[in-house]
Amino acid sequence: MNKSPIILGIETSCDETSVSIIQDNESGIPKILSNIVSSQFDIHKEFGGVVPELAARSHVEKINLIAKKALEESGISLDKVSAVAATSGPGLIICLSVGLNFAKSLASSLNVPFIGVNHLEGHALSPKLHTNISYPYLLLLISGGHSQFLSVNGLGNYKRLGTTIDDALGEAFDKTAKLLGIEFPGGPKLEKFAEKGDPNKFKLPKPIINKGGCNLSFAGLKTAILKISKNINSEQEKYDLAASFQKTIEEILYIKSKIAFKEFLKNSIGKKYFVIAGGVAANKGIRKKLIQLSNENDFEAIFPDINLCGDNAAMIGLVGIEKYKLKKFDNMDLEANPRLALDKNATFLKGSGVKI
Ligand code: KG4
Ligand code: ZN
Repeated sequence: MNKSPIILGIETSCDETSVSIIQDNESGIPKILSNIVSSQFDIHKEFGGVVPELAARSHVEKINLIAKKALEESGISLDKVSAVAATSGPGLIICLSVGLNFAKSLASSLNVPFIGVNHLEGHALSPKLHTNISYPYLLLLISGGHSQFLSVNGLGNYKRLGTTIDDALGEAFDKTAKLLGIEFPGGPKLEKFAEKGDPNKFKLPKPIINKGGCNLSFAGLKTAILKISKNINSEQEKYDLAASFQKTIEEILYIKSKIAFKEFLKNSIGKKYFVIAGGVAANKGIRKKLIQLSNENDFEAIFPDINLCGDNAAMIGLVGIEKYKLKKFDNMDLEANPRLALDKNATFLKGSGVKI
């Protein structure tokens, strides 16, 4: 077994085609030799959301080229690759299948192990791409499809403490942005709008803020914004609504994270780390607010680098390294799983009638 394994990681779960070459390092922080991310924003923006068939088609068209580019940039030849890792779920099944099949073919032609990776585990471990952090840690995972608090107890060992009972936070950002006339995916631009507005102009609801532990809910917020947006006439009012939304989200996360701290500490002693990961973790206002909360509660807030918050193959390669070292390889019959979870024992908590 290679002492400093080199993993070729592949990510195609949604609308980013990404390939990374990453090498394990004695320091505990792996070396990203390349991480090529090709986004499909231009393909999907006219539809206001990701169209699965178009996304899969684009992955098929690009994957070979992106892999070549990643190898070229890394300066690594294929015969030096120790294993091939690819996202196996969750995500869009036809998109996942493109990366998985590519990875399986490549691994079998190189005669190296193939490793299937949970996309959420990639986000969960992503701070390890630049920080030495030990288990257990509290994780707030906020992306386009997921919003969860988890206790990360080790590789493949997760306990969910809370989750959204309706929309994911990224989804709430994107839907609000759409109502303000911002192109998909609107999250990052909404944050820019918010910087120009008055955060106290509109009072917005904070669903389930006083109940449901550290579970989250954003659907009521979206309905309130829909109503207000119908009476908005000026650009300044748009900025004000964006700022009010941003402020409300920061306050919700502040209150719910504080509850999650208590939940986490019930079963954990030692260093208190609070990792915030996923696409929405790039939001500067959220970063600032959660750093403040962490400082107040003796936690250390840790975020992935801004350019590693969104979907990328380096985080998939990182999980690949961890699994490779434990010889956790997969068979070639591993199938894409669109609903793959981190905590397999957690119950499904979505839809009306849900008890929280
Ligand atoms: O993790 P990610 O790249 O993909 C999923 O796995 O879902 O997250 C994408 C989500 C999108 O909803 C996008 O609008 C949101 O992250 N996002 C942001 C920001 N940057 C990306 N939301 C708010 N503020 C940002 N700066
Ligand atoms: Zn993601």
